[in-house]
Amino acid sequence: MKDYGKYFKKPSLKDARKRVEDTGYIDFTLADKYKLLGEGKKYFIQTYGCQGNEADSERMAGILEAMGFCSADIQDDADIILVNTCAVRDNAENRAFGEMGRLKKFKKTNPDLLLGICGCMPQEENVVNRLLEKYPYIDLIFGTHNIYKLPEYVQSAYLSKERVVEVFSHEGNIVENIPTIRENEHKAWINIMYGCDEFCTYCIVPYTRGSERSRDKDSIISEVKKLVSSGYKEITLLGQNVNAYGQDFDDEYSFASLLRDLDKTGIDRIRFTTSHPRDLTIHTINAMAECNSVMNHIHLPVQSGSDEILNKMNRKYTRDDYLKLVHKLREAMPDISITTDIIVGFPNESDSDFQDTLTLVEEAGFEGAFTFIYSKREGTPAAKYEDTVSNEIKKNRLNKLIDKVNTMYLKGNKRFENKIVKVLADSVSKNDDSVLSGYSEHNKLVNFKGSKSQIGNIVEVYITEAKTWHMIGEVK
Ligand code: 5AD
Ligand code: SF4
Repeated sequence: MKDYGKYFKKPSLKDARKRVEDTGYIDFTLADKYKLLGEGKKYFIQTYGCQGNEADSERMAGILEAMGFCSADIQDDADIILVNTCAVRDNAENRAFGEMGRLKKFKKTNPDLLLGICGCMPQEENVVNRLLEKYPYIDLIFGTHNIYKLPEYVQSAYLSKERVVEVFSHEGNIVENIPTIRENEHKAWINIMYGCDEFCTYCIVPYTRGSERSRDKDSIISEVKKLVSSGYKEITLLGQNVNAYGQDFDDEYSFASLLRDLDKTGIDRIRFTTSHPRDLTIHTINAMAECNSVMNHIHLPVQSGSDEILNKMNRKYTRDDYLKLVHKLREAMPDISITTDIIVGFPNESDSDFQDTLTLVEEAGFEGAFTFIYSKREGTPAAKYEDTVSNEIKKNRLNKLIDKVNTMYLKGNKRFENKIVKVLADSVSKNDDSVLSGYSEHNKLVNFKGSKSQIGNIVEVYITEAKTWHMIGEVK
């Protein structure tokens, strides 16, 4: 592989901080010259991080298959390996760097192998510098904004044998109609918006994913209608902050309007993730309560129970604001299940700040939480905050929080014992092929005896036993 050719564009954090108005739309089309490039070749995509990355990987698979590539079951068989990365925390980045190191050996056995890194990490200036210096064998480096240019990049890397490095610091257009190979045949991810303008002080996402842009509602609705006619049962609407959907439109069309319109498409189940409390309106709560297809669950990241920490995080709400929202949700949907994200060890978090978080978990009645130790992200405001709390204290706090969250998980599951819940049968258990698993309307994992033919159906299951992480039931 020679050095760089016509593609050499590194990201700039300074540019990524800026917000540009006016999103345009373009339609993806695959030029004929790319259609046979992958004939006889196989691809493998390794995905880290959030559902947004999973959805992006499904689009990259779609593009590669349209170019003639077939999917490889294992990395050893692949002619192109793409690693789709997450930048949200240090450990996700370290794993991806480790993986890139491990993949080097495949280049020795297959010198024609194309190795690529994409997703959020290459959007960071410091990461690209490290990749260029320490990982010279990586052929493709591109970011979150230019997946649609994959055919050009692959052609350039194959034919001119030049290294492709192209990362845009601005998002540009929303690209519609990218072919998609969905991992699941009855549940689908649907991006409704991209980017984030919240700028929580600890978070790298507003820089790696760019400014908030909503997809056109008609494109979303027609995508969902197509899924319904091909037998899909459940959709999960994706965005960093789905509650801000439509705030960039000239009219009043909002996330609540979208939920109501999607409810009419005939899809059985609608979920969405993730929500910022500040933008969760009463209109959305009412739409959730009134639309039968919208599931009885919300993931509503709180991050901390301390007002001082919430303020330093730039979350723009107080503990009390959050609890009022929880109250409104329960008023509209008395049996809703609420889950959350919590960060411990934010710079200079005191013991009493942490106690506020522990008590909030109980007061809000969370039935699950993703819990994290704060991870310093270069370029974010919090990276400059003074922090005198030791790692040991942070780990202790995390363990205490996990214990508390686990009791809440169990309590949340217990309320369904001896009741019938509706489960979308998802897959056969790895250990016992007479056991199926799937999620209930409240997003609880349920295992029950059943046959493969039920996969993809919504099944009524009687819950016999609640465990911490799942429930056990039988079909009545
Ligand atoms: N450190 C730890 N956790 C983080 N998150 C985002 N940024 C960081 C960080 N720097 C968590 C938040 C967010 C979830 C997706 O990841 O809780 O809701
Ligand atoms: Fe990050 Fe905050 Fe945006 Fe979520 S809302 S992606 S935590 S900046």
